Amino acid sequence: MTERLRVGQAGLGYWGRNLARNFDDLTDLRWLCDASEERRAEFAERYTDARVTGDFDELLAADDVDAVVIATPVPTHYPLARAALAAGKHVFVEKPPAMQVAEMEELIGLAESRGLVLMPGHLLLYHPAVQKLKELIDAGELGEVLCVYGNRQNLGIVRTNENALWSLGVHDLSVVLYLLDEDPEIATANGRDFLTPGVEDVVFCYLRFPSGKIAHMHLSWLDPHKMRKITVVGREKMVVFDDMELERKVTIYEKGPWQPTETYGEWQTQTGDIFSPKISSDEPLRLECRHFLSLVAGEGDRLKVAHDGLAVVRVLEQLQASLVTAPA
Ligand SMILES: NC(=O)c1ccc[n+]([C@@H]2O[C@H](COP(=O)([O-])OP(=O)(O)OC[C@H]3O[C@@H](n4cnc5c(N)ncnc54)[C@H](O)[C@@H]3O)[C@@H](O)[C@H]2O)c1
Repeated sequence: MTERLRVGQAGLGYWGRNLARNFDDLTDLRWLCDASEERRAEFAERYTDARVTGDFDELLAADDVDAVVIATPVPTHYPLARAALAAGKHVFVEKPPAMQVAEMEELIGLAESRGLVLMPGHLLLYHPAVQKLKELIDAGELGEVLCVYGNRQNLGIVRTNENALWSLGVHDLSVVLYLLDEDPEIATANGRDFLTPGVEDVVFCYLRFPSGKIAHMHLSWLDPHKMRKITVVGREKMVVFDDMELERKVTIYEKGPWQPTETYGEWQTQTGDIFSPKISSDEPLRLECRHFLSLVAGEGDRLKVAHDGLAVVRVLEQLQASLVTAPA
């Protein structure tokens, strides 16, 4: 392998262009692949050193590609990732890498048997604000954590080949599992497909964990509010990560219930300071791409990212099963 990792990327759409920009800045972006001729023409003009193709197999057959980045629609992730691993390439694949646990396990088996990195693109785990939430929880700053809920709503982007659970919920779910460090014993979802038959636009999810903690996710592209928010309620403090805020991404509320001795068990509430710690403005995607490159370089725990991705797919699969059987 040459010193700079040689990357080939498939999928040059809305999100793929951000990945291409980062990998071009950080390493050697050698190949670009997209099914759309228009996209290929646009990227050929922008990345003049890269080879451009509409044929993923041509990219895989190239001997100057060490790693493949996949940013195509969700249902294509598994077959493309499997082909790339089978061709001996490290893989960074947008979330989720597969839509079934069995498929995800197969990808992990392939990666492990060939000593390759398989990294799902769980972007929010690289967000400095999520790192702050984790730090606060693990340091016991919030007291016992009781519940976590995510709001990921907006009007659009209306997707037609993946529902709000798989498109939006995957973000919140990766954060909830990371923060609580537990797998849920109950995972249920309700929702409706208002626009495209079989593709739920509005989804509400409920999770309950063995420790008794609970979580909720409201996922929708049919909503008047643009919300990108995660709230963690602890017994002593509460914290909100609001990604729509420019500066105050994280707000810590010294608010909580308490039982003064003189009230004989009656609950009262108390409110103290409300403050926002400084959160680094590093681009989460840049940090995520760097992490992929360092895993390929042999630094860090390369098995962890793939297994964390499997845990997310497992819960998504449970939520999806309950979504299709729940009364609409
Ligand atoms: N991490 C994040 O925050 C984030 C944000 C948005 C999207 N995404 C993910 O990125 C992926 C792409 O989303 P998008 O919004 O960019 O979609 P998009 O529709 O804008 O782009 C997808 C591109 O893939 C191409 N394509 C489809 N099948 C292909 C194939 N077999 N081979 C080569 N090219 C193919 C299409 O022509 C299109 O240009 C999805 O998995 C989505 O969930 C992640």
